[in-house]
Amino acid sequence: MNIFDKFRRLAESGRALEKEFGSFFNVVMEDILSSTEAVINGRRVILAGTNNYLGLSMDPECIRAACLATEKEGTGTTGSRMANGTFSGHVALEKELSDFWGVTHTIVFTTGYGANLAVLSSLSGPDDVVILDSDCHASIYDGCRMGGSEVFRFRHNDIENLEKQLRRLQKRNASVLIAVEGLYSMMGDRAKLREIVDLKQKYGAWLLVDEAHSLGVLGENGRGLVEETNCLDGVDFITGTFSKSLGAVGGFCSSNHRDLEILRYASRPYVFTASPSPSNIASARQALRIIRTSPELRKRLWENTHVLYSRLEKLDLKLGPEPSPIIPVRYEDPHDALKIWNSLLEQDVYVNMVLPPATPDGSAFLRCSMSAAHTPEQVEIIGDAFAYAVSSA
Ligand SMILES: Cc1ncc(COP(=O)(O)O)c(C=O)c1O
Repeated sequence: MNIFDKFRRLAESGRALEKEFGSFFNVVMEDILSSTEAVINGRRVILAGTNNYLGLSMDPECIRAACLATEKEGTGTTGSRMANGTFSGHVALEKELSDFWGVTHTIVFTTGYGANLAVLSSLSGPDDVVILDSDCHASIYDGCRMGGSEVFRFRHNDIENLEKQLRRLQKRNASVLIAVEGLYSMMGDRAKLREIVDLKQKYGAWLLVDEAHSLGVLGENGRGLVEETNCLDGVDFITGTFSKSLGAVGGFCSSNHRDLEILRYASRPYVFTASPSPSNIASARQALRIIRTSPELRKRLWENTHVLYSRLEKLDLKLGPEPSPIIPVRYEDPHDALKIWNSLLEQDVYVNMVLPPATPDGSAFLRCSMSAAHTPEQVEIIGDAFAYAVSSA
């Protein structure tokens, strides 16, 4: 028995698509020109598929902070947070994130994936129940699987369906944790957080909100959907990542529960991996400062978002349910999506191609994302490229 046999069908369908459309899975950014431009296949391309919502991966102050930290503290920590991998920067960032969210405790992890894995696998054991929005990110699913809890899904943003499950579980003597995202990573829509908090309180459940895509993007001060909906007091755990609006690599969990600190002993993804590098911590700290002091970046991001969303709407494309910096363009048939994706790249515009099973509803889609760093001209070029691709498809 060949150990790779189980992947044969997947590999065959991947190869067939690549034969027809080229290697869309392995696009290489040959040169990074700015946070919105790179060289791909030798050509200068506009990036309209990154998570660089505020353009901070190339911010001069963030780069300088990362360089200084590398010179002073080295390229890596060479150890877990639990052992020699906690530097003063990690502790300072934890305090800054707590101040930012207005909570008492924060733990920094090596990635956002690791943060969800750590929190969910530790908090949800075999005697607990987790109820997830069906569109939740893989890291939330994987954390539950690792913890061994019983998992129920409620239909995406369907509050009645969530209540039905909470009512049914009321009879059981188990801790129930609800997990949702602030801004959903694929469809770009917001959780109905106010209603979810009301239900959580009514049924005595716990609530985790992953603000990976909403940190720096939503809320007057960039404090995500919990700020926009004024729901912070009703949320037990906020998780998130440095890999999107903060332009670095790392993750965190913030909470008012003192017992969160137990995870520093109990959580395998905290204990058994090296901590984030000094450069990532330093640039994330600087990016957080910029988020706090530069609301104009958020304003520009949303201006760009509204322009592109309305241009794509006019093309009668099937978009996500609401204007948001994540704009999915959906197709029933992956071949149709791939044709448009190829045409866009030929016109020097890159968006992300997302195929099932990574999509929530089995459709294929082009995931566009906007950045505060896109110029108005670039946004128009992206819109023009879509118009041409659609008219010539
Ligand atoms: C909702 C959500 N949570 C967590 C993550 C993981 O973040 P990271 O890239 O830091 O591992 C992602 C990344 O795609 C995400 O979309």
